[in-house]
Amino acid sequence: MSAAIDLGPKRPVHFLDIKDFTPEQLRALIGHAAQLKRQRRIGVPKKPLAGKTLAMVFEKPSTRTRVSFEVAIKELGGDAVVLSSRDMQLGRGETVHDTAHVLSRFVDGIMLRTGDARKLHALAQHASVPVINGLTDLSHPCQIMADILTFEEHKGPIKGRKIAWVGDGNNVAASFIEAAARFGFALRLACPAGYWPRPEVLEWAKAEGADVEVGIDPDWAADSADAMVTDTWLSMSDSEDQAAARAQAFAPYQVTAELMAKTTEGAIFLHCLPAHRGEEVAAEVIDGPASVVFDEAENRLHAQKAILALCLG
Ligand code: CP
Ligand code: NVA
Repeated sequence: MSAAIDLGPKRPVHFLDIKDFTPEQLRALIGHAAQLKRQRRIGVPKKPLAGKTLAMVFEKPSTRTRVSFEVAIKELGGDAVVLSSRDMQLGRGETVHDTAHVLSRFVDGIMLRTGDARKLHALAQHASVPVINGLTDLSHPCQIMADILTFEEHKGPIKGRKIAWVGDGNNVAASFIEAAARFGFALRLACPAGYWPRPEVLEWAKAEGADVEVGIDPDWAADSADAMVTDTWLSMSDSEDQAAARAQAFAPYQVTAELMAKTTEGAIFLHCLPAHRGEEVAAEVIDGPASVVFDEAENRLHAQKAILALCLG
């Protein structure tokens, strides 16, 4: 008879936010992502998630997150069920609580994209399988893991380097702030008044001793930065009614060639995509030599494989 000690129910490892992990855990994830990328290039078949199924629930549109997660789980030997909340009873008022319990009976992990971060946390609270944040109104941690991998491929270790964020202090910016604390890089955000990152995020970064500062001047943020990052001026969770006011407030925050010239020689340009040329970024920048946005998009696949292996493995 087995003398195994019953440690009680195993708690699932969720991937909800960068701040939930230690620098060592995040560093290991980036290392694993880089290794999986090399293995894919040389055609090493690895199927650590054979027999595992990921449910992907979308309350908002997606190209990169949807395709990269589906390809990632399949290349790791597993399978995916892709669900739009519109087609689910969740979209007709079934509770997140019941949805969490039911999906947990069918699948080995759940990825959620939602415009309400409270739903993600409720799902994680009630699911007995791992829950992965595929973007909320407040954060986008999978994106930032891909961004760190991309930075390091082009510029070497990110620790001690300087990153500029110019534009909206939005969900993606919030995950960048958490990453600055965990990966030890300096982050300078230039955002118009009224569009700064949420005070809770900035207070958290301060308490963690992160080198994060926010101002209103794009030139100040760009000065001697190793990477320039921006994102759309109107996120999926923002009301279309705000589009005109936002376009006006953000007009001086477009990433132009002139602004890129304030960064260090060889600085890279990052954007999570989808991009709007002539709004947050000039076409000559995103389509120019400093831009690594398609490497960044590809790296969603490799970073998420490492996240899937951590959570579902
Ligand atoms: N960057 C990103 O998350 O893209 P999608 O909205 O296409 O998934
Ligand atoms: N901030 C953007 C990111 C899209 C990937 C949004 O939330 O719409």
